[in-house]
Amino acid sequence: MTEHQTTHQAAEDARNEEILIYVDGVLKPKAEATVSVYDSGFMLGDGVWEGLRLHDGVWTFADEHLDRLFEAAKAIDLDIGMDRKGVYSALLETQKANGMTTDAHARLMVTRGVKVRPFQHPSLSQSGPTFVIIMEHSKPALGRPINLATVPHQRGLPMTQDPKLNSHSKLNCILACIAAQKAGADEALMLDVHGFVNTTNACNFFIVRRGAVWTSTGDYCMNGITRQKVIDLCRANDIPVFERNYSLVDTYGADEAFLTGTFGAQTPVGSIDGRQIGTGELGPVTKRIRELYANLVHG
Ligand SMILES: Cc1ncc(COP(=O)(O)O)c(C=O)c1O
Repeated sequence: MTEHQTTHQAAEDARNEEILIYVDGVLKPKAEATVSVYDSGFMLGDGVWEGLRLHDGVWTFADEHLDRLFEAAKAIDLDIGMDRKGVYSALLETQKANGMTTDAHARLMVTRGVKVRPFQHPSLSQSGPTFVIIMEHSKPALGRPINLATVPHQRGLPMTQDPKLNSHSKLNCILACIAAQKAGADEALMLDVHGFVNTTNACNFFIVRRGAVWTSTGDYCMNGITRQKVIDLCRANDIPVFERNYSLVDTYGADEAFLTGTFGAQTPVGSIDGRQIGTGELGPVTKRIRELYANLVHG
């Protein structure tokens, strides 16, 4: 069996042992950056997060990430305790403390905070939110295209736990990923409640058929910022792009498939359920989209 990979695989960087982590306004060495066992994020996955990347001194698409963070916090009725400016300042403060200028990844996490008793009711979180920023030196380092397996775990309906929420609790996605690994793949391809191909456990999913780019309707998956940028880039560059329902038959027969996410940008898919996709390597349309996206990010 080939060795497993993850879509969020980064090159080893010894400097990450020395990073400072932002915990409720204080920058702490990694070993001291801890939260309470009574924290609602630890206890119940009761929080929301965002992942951002630093390219050439700029936090890419920061406005979109902050919009999504504040929207998610409002949706779960969580007061972040800071306005947008405050959150952005915390990000810059952490960046400065770590002396990072490019190729860094930040995970902003906010939970309902420390509980007075170890039970579910949100009113038990009484001392305000917990706000953490982990910022690491990070360069994606994939050795080969990703292999996917479809799994029984679905992307659910929005009234259960809306798949558009970047919630701390990701158990559905984690179980999907475990099932895919047990099937010998790297990560999971998840279907929606109607059986159409939707997304992977941690990224958005696209296929290319006869020069046209297809992705799901956008229902049941994360409203990925990279996903939207890819759609916009296709539209601006005369690459036919469709948000539509499609099946596994369409997917197995695709010429190319790729994933999108802030960390990996566009990651080629080599196989799905043991079927090689196209040549099994990075295809020409994915390559072109990668170049257009790199120009957007670095331009
Ligand atoms: C389930 C899931 N899908 C897709 C994405 C990619 O979104 P983005 O492109 O905004 O990083 C993420 C990242 O947060 C995610 O958690």
